[in-house]
Amino acid sequence: MTDLAHFLEKYRNMPILLEGGNFSGRTAILRASVSHYSQRGDRAIYVGPSIQRYLSSLMPNVHDELHLHLTGARNKALLLSLADAVGLTGHFQKSPFTLSGGEQTLLVTICKLGLEPSLLAFDCALGELDPDNAIRIAQVFAGPMGESITTLIVENGYGVDHPWCLPIRRPIEELRNFAESPLPPQFHVSNLRAEPPEDTGCLEAARVTFDYDKRTRVLRGASFCLKPGRIYSIEGRNGSGKSTLARILVGALPLQRGAIYFAGQSLKPWKRPGRVVAMHMQDPNVQLFADSIAQELADLPPQTRRSAAALAGVEGLMCKHPFDLPFVLRKRLTFAIVAHLRRPWLIFDEPTLGQDANACDQMVAVLQKLAEKNTGIIVVSHSREFIRRLQAQRLLLENGLITEL
Ligand SMILES: Nc1ncnc2c1ncn2[C@@H]1O[C@H](COP(=O)(O)OP(=O)(O)OP(=O)(O)O)[C@@H](O)[C@H]1O
Ligand SMILES: [Mg+2]
Repeated sequence: MTDLAHFLEKYRNMPILLEGGNFSGRTAILRASVSHYSQRGDRAIYVGPSIQRYLSSLMPNVHDELHLHLTGARNKALLLSLADAVGLTGHFQKSPFTLSGGEQTLLVTICKLGLEPSLLAFDCALGELDPDNAIRIAQVFAGPMGESITTLIVENGYGVDHPWCLPIRRPIEELRNFAESPLPPQFHVSNLRAEPPEDTGCLEAARVTFDYDKRTRVLRGASFCLKPGRIYSIEGRNGSGKSTLARILVGALPLQRGAIYFAGQSLKPWKRPGRVVAMHMQDPNVQLFADSIAQELADLPPQTRRSAAALAGVEGLMCKHPFDLPFVLRKRLTFAIVAHLRRPWLIFDEPTLGQDANACDQMVAVLQKLAEKNTGIIVVSHSREFIRRLQAQRLLLENGLITEL
């Protein structure tokens, strides 16, 4: 029996969290496990970090997407009640592609469970869940429904944030064939070229209101006044409107009611998107457009292009297409570009997705250095440990309003 077959037999029908850092070989273990099960004729499903890719794209709304997957499932009633408990029922008539990152993760997870696989492999796919939803899903994996599924989970970030009430394994030690990548790319704060922003001032929101439609009223008069040179976190459950607020501040969505001020002057971000507030998006795939990494960096001032490439660890890969990079590097690339933009305010929406604890520490150091230069920093994150290490001033977005924590 091979090492892998032995490993999979030993942990059959259990939820297992595979520990290890970025580039430690865990994706290779997941992929090999899926092909091992498939070759035996057992259903095996891999879910990777770009969660949208795991929606079927066939169905016009959440209701139909769920029923496409759950029809005939033994646990259909249980899974539908889980969908209800996590709030998906309220989104039944919406396109799956308009759900928030965490809501999409919940939908994909429930759909894949409905296919009743023998093996489910989650490769950094669950990081967008808020802490309560992460516990709920971990309990499903560890409960009766999980008893007939081998669930392999790769998650990164800080171990203390993991809600997974699961056995933890260090597979690399058990699987000698899956060695670490020989030269993992460097990601280090020393490569940041931290310069003061072009301009500086307070960022203020006054009774900001935003509805996507009559059913989806997201912001209901959110107000705050943020000072430059500080780090703020915006926290809140999945679907509370954090990314929506970020998109309004950056100018990707128009303001419907309320006002935004920068340095005491009225600001209409949608007229000049990204000029005062720039943003590192939750999903790096929607922020990368060019045919090569070199072109992706071309909008930066020439002297900072090299620092951004060095910070992301992609210096030797300039001719590559950004989508040839693994998710962890795509996220670092967009992070590094935004960190070098010299805008007065920078928003980082879930920057730690896919990043191991060392990379998270480097992100903390980068954001603190930018704040020292008087850049205003807003971080959206479900990682309490990341927020604690940032020493951020904490804001909560709940019921469409902002309060201080
Ligand atoms: N384009 C859209 N059309 C309709 N509804 C949308 C659209 N984008 C987002 N929504 C809805 O608006 C709400 C807020 O979404 P948003 O992405 O801002 O949440 P979030 O707080 O960032 O969540 P997460 O923690 O999961 O990233 C969600 O209920 C989502 O389904
Ligand atoms: Mg979001």
